[in-house]
Amino acid sequence: MATTTIQQFCRRILEGGTLADKQCGDAGAADEVAGVIDVAVAARTGVLQMIDGAERLPALCELHRDDARVACLSRFAHHEMMAIELFAWALLRFPTAPPALRRGLWAALVEEQTHLGLYLERLAAHGAALGDVPLSGYFWKLVPAIRSAAEPLKAFLCAQGLTLEQANLDFTMLFRDAFALGGDAESAAVMQRVHDDEIGHVRLARTWLCKGLDPSSDDVDVDAYQRHVPFPLSAARAKGRRFEAGARRRAGLSESFIALVRDARPYGQRL
Ligand SMILES: [Fe+2]
Ligand SMILES: [Fe+2]
Repeated sequence: MATTTIQQFCRRILEGGTLADKQCGDAGAADEVAGVIDVAVAARTGVLQMIDGAERLPALCELHRDDARVACLSRFAHHEMMAIELFAWALLRFPTAPPALRRGLWAALVEEQTHLGLYLERLAAHGAALGDVPLSGYFWKLVPAIRSAAEPLKAFLCAQGLTLEQANLDFTMLFRDAFALGGDAESAAVMQRVHDDEIGHVRLARTWLCKGLDPSSDDVDVDAYQRHVPFPLSAARAKGRRFEAGARRRAGLSESFIALVRDARPYGQRL
């Protein structure tokens, strides 16, 4: 039988271990919802298998060197692969989520596949491929906390959209400029493309986290985020070294939420 529904595509993404499995999909796929499926961890074959921990990324000033570019492009490509898998996990785990939210999650997944393809092209341009550098499975370590949260769908939106993807609004701009300074305008353009799309992914999470809550309150997203973000994530993890307030405003985050993230300090860090 041909693979045609969102559920079938998501099962292949999670249960198949190859690059082709991760890139399968169809933006117009039908959403025939069945029961809850909770996949423990994504299948991976060969060099795509995940390890614990990760090497430090090269310094921004080192991106004139091919090996430094490959280390960064590999990391970012793998983040996209894990984002694809986590959206697939959510689509299987939350079959009764509102249809409009499921359409948004599926659209985001398909955009992550585009991002993965763009990074793979940049790796190939440097004579490299995904898996040449070991791949850290960090995002998947967050799933048990999402699964055991009081409201797992809201915990997912807080973890994926409002922490990991919000932080990527900063990392993409930081590395766009570093790639450009290092002489790699093509990779810089990919960072800009990913940044622009991520604004929509953050907006999707914020919109559905706050659905049904009082829209007149400027703190509505702050309160919901703090209630549902799964440990060990927090506002301190929702940003990079460079803070892009404008992108957050375009994603619809309130001024209170932007200030919360901007001023957040990691656990245990003194003033
Ligand atoms: Fe992405
Ligand atoms: Fe994204």
